[in-house]
Amino acid sequence: MVALLGLCGSLRKASLNRALLVGVQAAMPAGSALTLYGGLELPIFNSDLGDPPEVTALKAAIAAADGVVFGVPEYNYSIPGGLKNALDWVSRPPATSPLRGKPVGLVGAATGMSGTIRAQTHLRQMLVFSDSPCLAQPEVLIPRAHERFDADGRLTDESTHALLSRFAAAMVAFVERHRG
Ligand code: FNR
Repeated sequence: MVALLGLCGSLRKASLNRALLVGVQAAMPAGSALTLYGGLELPIFNSDLGDPPEVTALKAAIAAADGVVFGVPEYNYSIPGGLKNALDWVSRPPATSPLRGKPVGLVGAATGMSGTIRAQTHLRQMLVFSDSPCLAQPEVLIPRAHERFDADGRLTDESTHALLSRFAAAMVAFVERHRG
């Protein structure tokens, strides 16, 4: 069994990136599953605070998963501040970060034409610090994403569904490879 955790970088109820993660969830092959995490609503990182309970819970969920799939919105040509804040929390202390060595995959949906390519490139770079292997292909960069889901957030676009199936299969194989 391969158990993946889906972390969405958007807090919006109608988030396209959350809908995309639900699409990945539906595409997971037999013998694997993706659980969507509730939300990355955390205090702003401050090492004076120690880990607040929400951070402890997030770290535990990442630690328990075989791999993590990030739903990556693009805000002002990078990842949203809330997602960066969550990464800052879970990256400390570095030696025991649950992201250390954890296989990771990225998917992203944007209403514009770039499909989150700039945000995903930035996130890949950030994950170098925790030595988190990041699936390279297939890239899931979804432009004009609002045209690919219905009003209830259900994926209606067949080519996106096919891409998510390839991504889900590749992610499971990637996690299995990193189990050694
Ligand atoms: C955006 N959006 C956006 N899109 C993009 O392709 N590149 C960008 O740099 C930005 N910048 C940006 C900044 C801010 C503050 C917002 C609110 C939005 C549009 C973005 O792709 C769109 O709102 C998505 O729907 C956001 O993802 P969720 O919330 O639907 O998952």
